[in-house]
Amino acid sequence: MKLMPLTEPGDAIACAARAIIEMVQRKPDAILGLATGGTMEPLYALLVAAHRDGLSFARIRTVNLDEYVGLPPDHPNSYHRYMARHFLEHVDVPPANSFIPCGHIDPARAASQYASLLDDLGPVDLQLLGIGENGHIGFNEPGTALDAPTRVTALSPITMAANARFFSPGAEVPSQAVTMGTAAILSARRIVVLATGRAKSAALADALDGPVCPECPASYLRLHPDCTIHADHAAGALL
Ligand code: GLP
Repeated sequence: MKLMPLTEPGDAIACAARAIIEMVQRKPDAILGLATGGTMEPLYALLVAAHRDGLSFARIRTVNLDEYVGLPPDHPNSYHRYMARHFLEHVDVPPANSFIPCGHIDPARAASQYASLLDDLGPVDLQLLGIGENGHIGFNEPGTALDAPTRVTALSPITMAANARFFSPGAEVPSQAVTMGTAAILSARRIVVLATGRAKSAALADALDGPVCPECPASYLRLHPDCTIHADHAAGALL
């Protein structure tokens, strides 16, 4: 795992975006693993700007990490809507080429269908990853095994509290999600992690300097042969 020098947040975001842009330029039919969360919003803005400047995503396929259980795809807080709003509506990825798990009807079945889809697609060329305040990746929460499958999982109280900021006041934050498992995440050919802000500093320190263990699923990234971390000074404050 390679930690890039700590930078201002804009530079970390630009470096992670550049890794994706270079992948698309080098391999126009790449499979991109995509992430959601506040951290990624400015990164998608840079990808959309690159598209306006001529970069085509027309042959790319995208697979997302996760989706909340109980939210239909058109719910404003679903990751389907997030991806449409921040990326897919603004670029030329054909709708049939982008895949996000479904969480609203029969999530267990949706998870096993998503696992089969990931198997059929083959290895992700570049997996973009954020990190949860508690060290989660995707929605693989503390306690997740190294080889966990794509599945329905319970969200920790820390994750629910952190993500409550995206929901209207008083709205119920989902307590479960369909997530790509750690095994699938780690099977990507290349992983690019983006971590910005002080809230990520403890998780990043645990991931990089603590034991490789289920209590911090992001620590598993140290076992990956091609994982690069882009972090700002705030996220790296405890390193
Ligand atoms: C979310 C997502 C993750 C994301 C992480 C950080 O809940 N499931 O894929 O990387 O938590 O989110 P944020 O960038 O909003 O801090």
